[in-house]
Amino acid sequence: MTLVDLHSHILPGVDDGSPDLETSLELARESVADGVTHMLLTPHHMDSNYVNHKRDVIEKTKAFQQILDREQIPLKVFPGQEVHLTEHLIEAIDHDDILYADADNRYIMLELPHTHVPEYFMRNIFPELQTRGITPVIVHPERNQGIQRDHQLLYDMVKAGCLTQLTANSYLDTFGERVTQLTQEIIDANLGSTFSSDVHAYKGRRSRMNAAYQKLVDNDRDKAVTYTENAKAILNGEDVPMPGIQEIRTKKKSFWDKLFKSKK
Ligand SMILES: [Fe+2]
Repeated sequence: MTLVDLHSHILPGVDDGSPDLETSLELARESVADGVTHMLLTPHHMDSNYVNHKRDVIEKTKAFQQILDREQIPLKVFPGQEVHLTEHLIEAIDHDDILYADADNRYIMLELPHTHVPEYFMRNIFPELQTRGITPVIVHPERNQGIQRDHQLLYDMVKAGCLTQLTANSYLDTFGERVTQLTQEIIDANLGSTFSSDVHAYKGRRSRMNAAYQKLVDNDRDKAVTYTENAKAILNGEDVPMPGIQEIRTKKKSFWDKLFKSKK
């Protein structure tokens, strides 16, 4: 299986992904062994810890590609960003400091704040992006606490036209049973667009794309093929249809659950 990975933190010394070149090369080799042939490099941008300007990422990606080639690691890398949602997103786009997933500036890999889905996203930012022909690819929605509490938020975003990138490790066992279960529910409700690794150097965050895809093949072979094709389409700036989306019921905690927990 040849795979496109749209979410990775393997540029050396750039964010919390990889501390040095040696580690970056090790991660690149692991990704290649995992079946990845093309990788969007997406250092964090505009979150509370990191700013990685467009021009810097482009330069660092070029330099890293040269090293990969020299080391004969068969991985083609592209400059990108994991753009953290803030109220200043449109401003950053206007200042030409945002990198897209594709050369036609159509898709943004967008990270929501971990704790919630800000109300201003669907009210202000999304319509403005839509007007400009930009589609957000919501990264790891399964790990967003707002979506975990209220699955309807994800349905509303996808129904409006957002795409989603589920994390391979979320579909396996890295982030706990609850995240794995929600990932499965998102997949079953046709609210997922593709898998990516979100690879970092630390334990539990290494690339496991192949294992996630094998699990999806076992559950739904056609969907696994669609996920691989969707990743390619996003990188190429092509259409990604999201047919048959369904709502996921949010399981409300029952009175008895709460009572039991409060007595423990
Ligand atoms: Fe990430």
